[in-house]
This record gives sequence, C-alpha cells and structure tokens, in this order.
Amino acid sequence: MARILVTGGTGYIGSHTTVELMQQGYNVTIVDNLSNSSVDVLDGIEAIVGRRPEFANIDCNNYVDLDNVFEQHSDIVGVIHFAASKAVNESVEKPLLYYRNNLGSLITLLEVMKAHQVSNIVFSSSCTVYGQPDAAHLPVDETAPIQKALSPYGNTKQINEEIINDAAYADKNLKATILRYFNPIGAHPSALIGELPNGVPQNLLPYVTQTAAGIRKELKVFGDDYNTPDGSCIRDYIYVVDLAKAHVKAIDRMINAKNRDQVEVFNLGTGHGISVLELIKDFEKATGKKLPYSIVGRREGDIEQVWAEPRKANEVLGWRADTPILDVLASAWKWEKHLRKIL
Ligand code: UFG
Repeated sequence: MARILVTGGTGYIGSHTTVELMQQGYNVTIVDNLSNSSVDVLDGIEAIVGRRPEFANIDCNNYVDLDNVFEQHSDIVGVIHFAASKAVNESVEKPLLYYRNNLGSLITLLEVMKAHQVSNIVFSSSCTVYGQPDAAHLPVDETAPIQKALSPYGNTKQINEEIINDAAYADKNLKATILRYFNPIGAHPSALIGELPNGVPQNLLPYVTQTAAGIRKELKVFGDDYNTPDGSCIRDYIYVVDLAKAHVKAIDRMINAKNRDQVEVFNLGTGHGISVLELIKDFEKATGKKLPYSIVGRREGDIEQVWAEPRKANEVLGWRADTPILDVLASAWKWEKHLRKIL
C-alpha cells in the first residue's frame, strides 16, 4: 500500500484529508508540531477509519527530523503539505514568524523530498491569491490575475506557489498540484473530528456555532453596505469533507496520470457564492437554532465578494463539491455540540 506523508495532518483540513486517504487504502504518516492542533485528533481519525495513522511530532523546518521520516519510509509516494500558520491578523503582527514557518517548511520539505526522490507534492493554497477579482473574473477561475497580498499570511501562499513553480522548472522530476481553497467549513459527519479554533474565532462558521452554543453573545456581521444584493460579503463555502476528497483525487492523478502538466493548479469551491446574511438564515434553517446577530462596521481587509469557477477541478480531477449547504451547516453544529457536550 502506498504511503502519503501529510504535514499538518492533525489540523482541520489535514485530519479530514487523512481520513479520506486512509479510507481509499493509502497509508498515512502525519508530521505535525502540534502548534495549533491536538494529538487527540489521532483518536478521532482512528475511531472513524479503524486504523491509526502513523504520527511524528516534528517541525517541518527541521531538516534532520524530516529526513529521518523519509529515511524510515521508502514507500512514501507523495506529500500533502498543509502545515502552516494561518491566522491573517496574527500574520500582520508577527510577519517574520509567518515567513519563517510557512516559507521555511516548504523549502525544507522540497529539499528532503529531492534527497529521497519523492516527486509528488500537493500544496494547500488559498483563493486569497486572487484578492478581489474584478466583475469580469467572477466566478474566479485559475487564469485570473494574482493580486498583491493583503497580509503576510496571504503573501506566504503566493510566494510558496512561486517557490513550487521555480523548483519544478529547475527539476523536471518534481510534480506539483496547487489547490486553491475557497472557504472550508463543517465537520466530519461522525462529529469525531472538526475545526478546533484557538481562542476567539476569527472565521465566520466557528463564531456562528459558538454563538449558537451560547459561548458568544452574538455574531457581529462585518458590514451590510457592500455592493452585493443584501449588502453583506459573499464567499464560496466548501464542505471540508468534499475538500478532503479533492486531495485524494489530486494524489491519485499525480500517481496515475500519464499526461499532466508538471505543475497543475485547481480552484476548490462549490461555484456558488453565499452572503453572510444568507448563511445565518441557512444555519437557522439547518439547526432550528435562533442566531443572535448585529450588524457592525466593515472588517479591515475584507474582500467584498469572491466565489469559484471550479470547472477545471470538476473535469480534470473528476471531483465536485456537492454536499448541500444545510447538511454542511448541520455538521458544523453537530461538531460544536459534541465539543461542548450539548445534547
Ligand atoms: N464575518 C463576519 N463576522 C465574523 C467573522 C466573519 O461577518 O465574526 C464575515 C467576514 O466579514 C467575511 C465572511 O464572514 O465576509 C467570511 O469570513 P472568514 O473570516 O470566515 O473568511 P475570509 O474569507 O475572510 O478568510 C478566508 C480564510 C483566510 C484567507 C482569506 C482570503 O479564512 O485564511 O479567506 O480571503 F486568507
């Protein structure tokens, strides 16, 4: 059985992807320094899959530690690189930490892969690279222009894409798949794994579920005066399990496809934009919970509206994000209830 190395595999998207990989028959070795995740996630993965992924508590910036993992596993056929710092606000305050963590880990990983002749890498990127696409580029496809990043975090995604392109140009054996995620939400239907935000959530869905659970008084909707039908911002919210499945398709394609570009880029989204106010209504419908909220001023740096043109991923990967939004929101609520032991 082929082995996939998953960096950041105890994190939110990494843990869901590990489940899907293992259910498709891959062996998985997770490397994670647990800086923003818990080792208990491994129990959740094992409870779902019936097998435990191998785990190494190491930092991807550490060449020697990473080299040891490859040394011990000659069966690694590909790497999925999730490990990264990801809080936009924090990145503004601690840019050097973000550049060190996010750039250093990719560079180290590519060096170690080359030393061990592992040639397939899937990289977690973000729709943040598109900034605010102009109207002609909505929905946004992979050919839309990359815009100057609004935060050090966003910049690390852009620079990492460039690093991958340059490394692939110099080494024709290296194959890379860059996945640009839109807004991942929800949790595994078992509610055994899900998102574990640190402190006060910055992202919408964890704030919504914590408000519904009574941990936060009310949701603050950041602006209702945008140039959108109801004035609130529009995003493409993609179910984390659908997103995880796209990674398996990407790995399968890297291993099996005869004709593929050396570096391929895919948008991973549903193709549908939803406003913040619509999402609140959908959440209430999906869960029967009333969600207290108020409208406040705009959040600095927010994009007004962006949603994906996912046709390339649909056609080339044979993948589609098709879980209905009400099911996705119900999964997020089920997970919050599990965390808070709400019956
Ligand atoms: N929002 C609220 N109230 C909240 C939190 C969010 O109204 O308490 C709104 C935001 O203004 C935005 C939408 O909900 O309109 C989504 O916000 P998120 O923070 O959940 O997601 P973003 O689209 O802003 O951020 C995501 C990723 C980042 C990435 C960014 C790039 O989380 O990692 O996209 O645009 F950098």
